[in-house]
Amino acid sequence: MSVWLEPEHVGSRREPVGTLRRATADGSLDLDGDWDFQLLPRPTDTPGTRWASARVPGCWTTEPGLWGEVADPPWYTNDQMPWPDLPPTPPTAQNPTGVYERDVAVPAHWAGQRVLLHVGAAESVLLVHVVDAGGNLVEVGTSTDSHLAAEFDVTAWATPGSRVRVRLTVVKWSAATFVEDQDQWWHGGITRSVRLFTRPLLHLSDVRVVARADGELSVDVRVGQDGPTGTDRLPEGWRVRTRLAGTDLAFDAAAHRRDHDDERLSLYRGRARFHGSFPGIATWTAEAPNLHELTVELCDAAGVLVDSCVQRIGFRTVEIVGPDLLVNGRRIFVRGMNRHDRNPLTGRVVTESQMREELHTLKRFGFNAVRTSHYPNDPRFYDLTDELGFYVVDEANIESHAWAHEICDDPAYLPAFTQRVARMVRRDRNHPSVVIWSLGNESDYGANHDAVAAWIRREDPTRPLQYEGAIKDDWYAGAASSDIVCPMYAHIGQMVDYANNGPLRPVIQCEYSHAMGNSNGSLSDYWAAIESLPGLQGGFVWEFADHGILQREDDRLPVGIAGEGLFRDGVPAPGLRWAHGGDFGDTPHDGAFCLDGMTFPDGTPKPTMWEHRELASPVRLSWPGGTPGVSVVVRNATDFSDLGHLRAQWRMDAEDGTSLTEAATLPALGSGESAELALPAALLGAGSGERRIQLVLVQAAATAWDPAGAEVARPSLRLADGEAPSPVATPPRRGAPLVVDERGRVLHPNVLEGPELTLWRDPTDNDDIIGLGKVWADLGLRARPTVTSTSSTPDGVTVVSTLATGAGDVVHTQRLSSRTDDAGRPVLRSEDTVVVPDGLADLPRLGVRLRLPTARTARWFGTGPWETYPDRCTAPTGWHELPVAELGVPYVRPQENGGRSGVRRLELDGVSLRFDRPLHVTVRPAANVTEVVLDVAHRGVGSASCGPDALPQYRITPGTWTWSWTLHPA
Ligand code: GAL
Ligand code: MG
Repeated sequence: MSVWLEPEHVGSRREPVGTLRRATADGSLDLDGDWDFQLLPRPTDTPGTRWASARVPGCWTTEPGLWGEVADPPWYTNDQMPWPDLPPTPPTAQNPTGVYERDVAVPAHWAGQRVLLHVGAAESVLLVHVVDAGGNLVEVGTSTDSHLAAEFDVTAWATPGSRVRVRLTVVKWSAATFVEDQDQWWHGGITRSVRLFTRPLLHLSDVRVVARADGELSVDVRVGQDGPTGTDRLPEGWRVRTRLAGTDLAFDAAAHRRDHDDERLSLYRGRARFHGSFPGIATWTAEAPNLHELTVELCDAAGVLVDSCVQRIGFRTVEIVGPDLLVNGRRIFVRGMNRHDRNPLTGRVVTESQMREELHTLKRFGFNAVRTSHYPNDPRFYDLTDELGFYVVDEANIESHAWAHEICDDPAYLPAFTQRVARMVRRDRNHPSVVIWSLGNESDYGANHDAVAAWIRREDPTRPLQYEGAIKDDWYAGAASSDIVCPMYAHIGQMVDYANNGPLRPVIQCEYSHAMGNSNGSLSDYWAAIESLPGLQGGFVWEFADHGILQREDDRLPVGIAGEGLFRDGVPAPGLRWAHGGDFGDTPHDGAFCLDGMTFPDGTPKPTMWEHRELASPVRLSWPGGTPGVSVVVRNATDFSDLGHLRAQWRMDAEDGTSLTEAATLPALGSGESAELALPAALLGAGSGERRIQLVLVQAAATAWDPAGAEVARPSLRLADGEAPSPVATPPRRGAPLVVDERGRVLHPNVLEGPELTLWRDPTDNDDIIGLGKVWADLGLRARPTVTSTSSTPDGVTVVSTLATGAGDVVHTQRLSSRTDDAGRPVLRSEDTVVVPDGLADLPRLGVRLRLPTARTARWFGTGPWETYPDRCTAPTGWHELPVAELGVPYVRPQENGGRSGVRRLELDGVSLRFDRPLHVTVRPAANVTEVVLDVAHRGVGSASCGPDALPQYRITPGTWTWSWTLHPA
């Protein structure tokens, strides 16, 4: 059978999919662990006699020990297919095929029941065989869809009390590969758990729950019958019982009469509908994910329990009314994240603890939604999202990116579309967290989409569905396949225009704010629009984690499962690195484009996660009437909750070094409500210069993801400046005359080099991908300036220097003077003017660079403590302190990092720098010195690697720039 060549072949002899997961201690056998394994060059090859041992679940691609003669490392492509063959034909010369075999001892006490084999997921085609009593290989069945399980009835061979040898053959490339062309590494293997399980001949085959926010519950139970009876009629006297929290549900006689009249099903033939009303029951939302246990039992005529299941259900209603997506009747904000099942060691295999940890991270940083980009996730994932509270867009495993236009209308692929969608819906329909179905990703828009959309609408009318391809060219089109305007990387302007022109459907971007490298500029601008305009409800950031795979630098092999513990805080141990496309010799490839997460490959959050945390803060502050005063408006920005889960404290930081805290009592506010709160007098009276107030919000009690007292967010506001003069004022006494060397450098005990003009930053991924890095390099921005004149006056020295660029000279005039402070120490003052010529329209930075004696610690008054950039600086302004060695961010591809925006003062060991205006400051350790860059302007980071560049207001324009600063020995 060469089923891997046929697009129409989606599987054979698979059991129907339902919501039940059978895994009881005595009714199932875990088959995870070591299997005999060999990797063949082609599926048509015959296995030899030499077997290696492979772990299941596992990808052979990340375990070089399994390769034998076929080296098959991970291979990364974005939209292009990894080989040139046209659909539906996969490569035939080489098509790595893993053969897994093992003996299974079938428990004797399973006698009289059906025995089924469950294979959690296999990439991309699964062929199941058993070796029969006569030693012959017998075909059991086949399956496709690398992200859904397949189950097969193996009763005929799995005799209780005996052993059976099972063979699972996994063919890597197939006709189905053309609809699995997602932007990620290609792997091969069995990627989710395998088990054997039993079920009674007459059994519960499916349970379908609709539990609405008003407490109305309907439960549709299907009873299946194995064996050759040829009837679906339940024997006389058999019954189904359903119970919720101790209350029996009523048999829904009306529904059954209706079915009977319709002649669609005769009364109670394998199907029973129940109904219950639970007004006032605790509903499910992402903020309060209340779950209730539903028990379903099948009893025989004597009342003996034959089969049963327990499911955790949630009462909630999802609907779209006008341009609003409502949960339980309320408009919500979707603070979403795109997440892949991926792991830096095991490729596609994720454990429950990894999934849980990732969801905890998302909770900590204010996310309330996940899109399972781009395929159904491990079934346990949805148990976790039910339990922790996330709105899930459940996405079908369909992406035909390279051949999108051809495949979406190709009836040969219609079976794949329907099976992938229908099996996902039938598996996940009972999860309250699943609020939207997605038809897949980047497969253009065709007849196959409308066909599967129609199927879902009929099968599950309780949820909206979405598909980006349907609306990508026109936000008013594609209604057959999308209830939501779910574009990717739409500009804020386009969203605003839509909102202002009578929005018809909610806009929830399926992907936005591409997190490649130092990125996610303007998240705050997106949210300012989303939270203020009709029809805009949020989006899903692209994406959760970098897809780097841990690799040995010497032989370039993946480390695999042995890499446990060989990385920390996002950084691999010496001799190892995070591999991206091409690093394994995989060609063609798409390089580092898979390193685009808000977390590192090991899940360590990047600074941008804190930006999101602040934007998602459950409490917001503003000034009454917009003017700083003695009280603030506190608003509850949650969708449902009061503020009882939070505790708070006021903190006030002033430029002069003052830092005070005072108790705060949060007002009792319902969702959306606000109240005016007086600020503590002790804070109002203190400090001089710029002053900032923060409301430090912490968890009142422990949550699943945080201990009590863990910080939730720190909304902040700028107070009126303090009474005392700003500490940047000219220091008191004229000091010793300033000495400047022939290169214009100040000779000062605290200054080893500089200050000198700098225009360069190491291009970020965003800069590079749109060619800015090259433009800047070609303009000569990396160059250092030349001093063109120095002149002394009694007050100091004026140094004029020029940095010649391909678009004209940038002229920097520095008036340097020296004074003595009260303790008689020399204070250096610099007044800087830079003239940027008209031709230089878009600089990366504009500032001066200094080298100072090595400092261990940095303290600054500005945004932080995490890294910030001008378009990503919602962080609270105040005093922050970090070791200098920890200011940088180890982005996988080296690039500009470690900046802090809005800084007024910087204290390093032995030196204090004060600025007349907020500067963007970078402090980094260098060989035996500490390098400091003081930028009067720094280009925003934007998100141009896939989407909008930094907005105009975050770019550096030509013209005259002036600023001044002082350097004080501490
Ligand atoms: C989208 C796509 C994602 C990913 C992203 C870029 O177009 O849906 O899978 O490729 O762009 O990182
Ligand atoms: Mg794609």
